Amino acid sequence: MLRMFYFSGTGNARNVAGWIVESFRARGLAAEAIDLAKLEPADVHIDPDDEVGLASPTHGFNFPPITLGFLFALPRAKHANRAFVVNTRAGVRFFGVCLPGLSGVTQLLAALVLLLKGYRVAGMRPIDLPSNWISLHPGLREDNIRAIYARSEAKTRAFAERMLDGRRDLRALWDLPQDLVLTPVSLGYYLIGRFWFAKSFVASRACDACGVCVKQCPVHAVTLVRGRPFWSYRCESCMRCMNICPKRAIETAHGFAIGVPLLLSVAMTAWVYPKLRTLAPWLSNESALGGVVRNALEAGLMLTVLIVCYRGLHRLMRFRVVEWLTMLTSLTHYRFWRRYKAPSTASSTRAASSGSARLPLPPPPRRTRRRPPR
Ligand SMILES: Cc1cc2nc3c(=O)[nH]c(=O)nc-3n(C[C@H](O)[C@H](O)[C@H](O)COP(=O)(O)O)c2cc1C
Repeated sequence: MLRMFYFSGTGNARNVAGWIVESFRARGLAAEAIDLAKLEPADVHIDPDDEVGLASPTHGFNFPPITLGFLFALPRAKHANRAFVVNTRAGVRFFGVCLPGLSGVTQLLAALVLLLKGYRVAGMRPIDLPSNWISLHPGLREDNIRAIYARSEAKTRAFAERMLDGRRDLRALWDLPQDLVLTPVSLGYYLIGRFWFAKSFVASRACDACGVCVKQCPVHAVTLVRGRPFWSYRCESCMRCMNICPKRAIETAHGFAIGVPLLLSVAMTAWVYPKLRTLAPWLSNESALGGVVRNALEAGLMLTVLIVCYRGLHRLMRFRVVEWLTMLTSLTHYRFWRRYKAPSTASSTRAASSGSARLPLPPPPRRTRRRPPR
C-alpha cells in the first residue's frame, strides 16, 4: 500500500498527494492520502510492503517544522521500504513563461533522514505550483494559476507512473549546486525568519471573531485573545488563515514588521555600538567572530523586541488610530493584493471533505502486475 503523507497550507501539496494516490489507485493498488497535521507520531505505522510518499510545501528553502517533525518521528523502515519525496515550490508565470521556485535543503534533508531510517529513496521531485506566499506578493491571477496547474499535474502524474513502474526519479538532484548555496539562508529562515513572519499577522476591524482561522490552523498557532486572533510563535506562516478568512480580515502588518527592526537598528547604531566599541572592542571590530556574534545577538534582540511589541500592538489595535495606521502600512490590506487558494481537484476535494486524515478506502485491487524495483 502507498501511504502518501502530506502537509499543506493552501492546498497545493494536498492536490499533489491526491494526484499520486489517484495514479496508484488507477493501477488497482491500495493508496491513501494522510494529512500529517492530523496525526500523532504514535499513530504512524509502516507495514513491510508499504511504500511511503511525502508531499509538503517548501518554506524558507526547507520543509516547514511540522513536516520535519513528522520525518524525524517516522518509524524506521524494517524492510527497506521504498520512499519518495515531493516538495511543492513557488511557481510563477510572467508573460506566458512559467518559472520554477527554489528548493534549498528541502529534498536533501528529507532524503538523508529517510536513508538513515533505512528507507530506499526512489523519488525526489520538486513540483512548481502557484506561489502562496501572500505576505510577500499578491496572489497569482486565475489564468496563471490554471496554466501552472495544468503543467504541474502532468508532471506529478508522470512522476507517479515512474514510481509505479518501480523506476527511480531523482530530478531534485539536478538543482544540487544552487540548493547548496541556499543552505545558510534556509538556516537563517529556520532560526529567525519564521518567527519574524509569525509575528507579522494581524486581524483588521473586519474580523468578526468567527474562529475559522483558529479551527483551520494546522499547527494550532492561532487563538482568540480579547476577541481578536493572536498568532503564537508556533505559526509556520503556511498562509492558510490569511487565504481562507471569510472576511478577508487577516493581514500582514508590513509597516509594523519592518518598522520595529528598522527603529531598533537605528537605535543600536546610534547608542549601543559606540558604547560597545569601548566596553567590548572585539565585538565591534572587523573580525569574523565579532561579526558573527554581533549578528546573532542583533537577530535575537530584534526577535525579542518584535515579540514584545507584537503583544503591545495586539492590545492597541482596539484603538482606531493604531488600527488605521497598521492597515495603512499593510500592503495586503489593499484590494489589488489578491489572496491564494489552490483550485480544488476531484481528488483533493475528496481528501479534504472526508474530514479525517485519510481518503476513503480504495476499491479492491484489480490484477495488475507491478514491475519489480531495480
Ligand atoms: C512562508 C513561506 C515560505 C516559502 N518559501 C519558499 C521557498 O523557499 N522556495 C519556494 O520555491 N517556495 C516557497 N514558498 C512557496 C510555497 O512553497 C508554494 O507556494 C507551495 O506550493 C505551497 O503549498 P501549499 O499550498 O500546499 O501550502 C513559500 C511559501 C511560504 C508561505
